[in-house]
Amino acid sequence: MAVLGVCGLQWGDEGKAKVIDYIFNSGYRDPLSETDFRNPKVVARYQGGANAGHTIVTPAGIKIISHQIPSGITRQGVYNLSLPGVVLEPKRLVDEIRDFEKNGYPVTPDNFGIDGRASVTLLFHRTEDGWKGGRFGENRLGTTGNGIGPTYADRALRTGVTFAEFLDEDAFAEALRNNQEETGRKFDIAAYLDDYREARHALRPFLVDSCPMLIGSTSEPWILEGAQAVMLDVEWGSYPWTTASHPSRPPLSTDFRIGIAKAYTTRVGEGPFPTELGGETGDFLRERGGEYGATTGRPRRCGWLDANLLNYAVRVNQANGFSSIALTKLDVLSGLKEIKVCVDYKDPTGNLVSIPMKRGDWKRVVPIYETFEGWSQDISGVRRFEDLPIQAQHYVRQIQFRADEPISLISVGPKAEQTFAIQI
Ligand code: IMP
Repeated sequence: MAVLGVCGLQWGDEGKAKVIDYIFNSGYRDPLSETDFRNPKVVARYQGGANAGHTIVTPAGIKIISHQIPSGITRQGVYNLSLPGVVLEPKRLVDEIRDFEKNGYPVTPDNFGIDGRASVTLLFHRTEDGWKGGRFGENRLGTTGNGIGPTYADRALRTGVTFAEFLDEDAFAEALRNNQEETGRKFDIAAYLDDYREARHALRPFLVDSCPMLIGSTSEPWILEGAQAVMLDVEWGSYPWTTASHPSRPPLSTDFRIGIAKAYTTRVGEGPFPTELGGETGDFLRERGGEYGATTGRPRRCGWLDANLLNYAVRVNQANGFSSIALTKLDVLSGLKEIKVCVDYKDPTGNLVSIPMKRGDWKRVVPIYETFEGWSQDISGVRRFEDLPIQAQHYVRQIQFRADEPISLISVGPKAEQTFAIQI
């Protein structure tokens, strides 16, 4: 039995689906315990909702963007599960299921299930989130506009609608009435019942109780797939510029953890980003790395790797089990004369400071950089650590040193075969 948790270590979009794809193809050898994890049978998402997005390229070259369905859905014999921690947008989920089916990947109760305790995102949640991220001015969050915060807020207030309630017309009506009474929201209950009827019908077969399956997890390898990343975690991230859930807290104890980090840093939406680069180098990373959001299409903000935050995220992610880092998109840095890495923060007077806990402090931190010599070679064809240019090897070793955790995988391009295992 083995449970492997996969979580982003920065502000999301690190390439989690790509690493999961690699694990399906090649397995994973944990560098510390020297134990293997192979042939996952279940991929379970434990938080987040339609705010996540990963791109799947079919063998026919068609791009499908999956937001709510776990990333094992294109694999034969793999069961995909949405655990109680997720929030689901029903109509978009139906569209997503149809999109997969249209492209030759049937989504049926045999390969997909949703725990009845998951919460449902409704139209009023999305309206309140505001298409462009809700709040304005200094406090603007730049959310994905998918109603994620309002849905989790309703859950915490105990005024939300569970997936099981959503599917049962009477229970749905009762939950909506309760929501109106408790929150004072104004909406037409009859219109909601009508409007979601088709989605209820389409999603009914996917209702499951995952509790007995968790017991089953003792005999089969599971991947617990996190959406977003540690720095977007509402507890451990750059609060309040975070999402509303807990990417760094999988609900089952894990035997292994892989934290994913890009070889540089990106962020979408508002919020602190000490190593952000404007100008030419920022544009270089955005264009070379194709840094545009899979969910909103927004250009991602780009900057140098923040190894100070990476070290913090590794500690947060390491709660239990063996863990290592998958370092993605190393190829994007090829061609830069020099590459910087933030190794610490100081305040404007030059004193070293730790990871901020107050929103104002985030704006005052100044990164302290270490500078590395770049490399000019195209490394997208490299498949062994020893074949990387010596400067790239040095860069990877220094990241491992700063993060204080083994790097087990490197990716040098978007294709599955461009990810390889290393041991350094
Ligand atoms: P929300 O999750 O839509 O409420 O957005 C809150 C913050 O998290 C915003 O800065 C979003 O851009 C960011 N965010 C949410 N999901 C993702 C993701 O999958 N990748 C990157 N950023 C995300």
